Amino acid sequence: MGAQLIDGKVVAKNVRQRLVPRIEALKARGVTPGLAAVLVGGDPASETYVRSKARACDKLGLYSEVIRKSADLAQQQLLDIVRELNDDDRIHGILVQSPLPSQIDEPTVTLAIRPEKDVDGFHPHNVGMLLIGRPQLIPCTPHGIIRLLEYYEIDPSGREVVVVGRSNIVGKPVAALLMQKTHMANATVTVVHSRSRDLPQIVRRAEIVIAAIGRPRTITSDMIREGAVIIDVGVNRVEDPSAEKGYRLVGDVDFEACREKASFISPVPGGVGPMTIAMLMENTVTAAESITAMPK
Ligand code: GUN
Repeated sequence: MGAQLIDGKVVAKNVRQRLVPRIEALKARGVTPGLAAVLVGGDPASETYVRSKARACDKLGLYSEVIRKSADLAQQQLLDIVRELNDDDRIHGILVQSPLPSQIDEPTVTLAIRPEKDVDGFHPHNVGMLLIGRPQLIPCTPHGIIRLLEYYEIDPSGREVVVVGRSNIVGKPVAALLMQKTHMANATVTVVHSRSRDLPQIVRRAEIVIAAIGRPRTITSDMIREGAVIIDVGVNRVEDPSAEKGYRLVGDVDFEACREKASFISPVPGGVGPMTIAMLMENTVTAAESITAMPK
C-alpha cells in the first residue's frame, strides 16, 4: 500500500484563507501589509521564487515591492537599501533573497534588517527567541512543515524525528521547533548531516523524516522505517530533455520507492514549497499587526 500524499497546495490555501479576516481588519484601520523582496543578481531559481512571492501578495491584496539589483552591487549599497526599507512605513516585511554574490556577507545583511520586519525569521533576535521558546517571526519553511503535520493530524509529541541537514534556513530551525515544549512539538529530535558516521542507520530509526539536504534522491527506501512519515524539503533541478524547460524538479527523497514504505509523504513539487510562500504571507501579516500595534 502506498503512502497518503501530503498536499501542500491544499494546506497552503487553508493558511491563506485564514489570513483574509486579519488582512481585512488591518485594512479597516488603514494598514495594508507590505512585503519588500530584494534580489541581487539574476539567479534563475531566485527569480522564480521572488516572482511567486510577489504574485502571492497580489492575490491576497498585500502591497509588494521587488527591488532588483545587479550582481556587482556593493555590500554598503545593499545595507543602505535595507535601512531605507527598515524606515519605510509601507513595508512590514523585508526579505533579501539568498544566495547572495560573494562580495556580500550574508550575516551582516541579516543583522541590518529590523527584527520586527524580518519575515524570514533569520535575524539572531528571532532565532534566539525561537530557541528560548518565545517565537516571534518563525522561519517560513520550518513553520510550514509544522502546519503540514498539524493539518494531517501527525502529532510529533514523543516521536523519533530525524532531520537530515543542518542549514540555518531549514535544518536547525525545524529541529528547534520540534523540540519545543509546546503543541505540535515535544519530539525526540536527531539531526544528521554530511559528517554523520552512519546516516542510513539513524534515519532508519525515524518515525518522521525531514529531508533538507539539497541533493536529489539522497533518502532511499532502505533508510525508511515501515509506516514512517516523510517530509521532503528538497527542490533540485535535474536535467530532463523530455521536459519543456529541459529540467524537472525532484526532492531529496527517492519518492516512488519510499512511498511504498511510508504512511505519509510530501511530493516535490506541491509539498513543502507552497507552504513556504503561504507562511511568508502569514509572517508579513503578523509583522504588520505587531509593528502597527506598537507606539511610535
Ligand atoms: N533562498 C532560498 N530559500 C530562501 C528563503 O526562504 N528566504 C530567503 N531570503 N532566501 C532564500
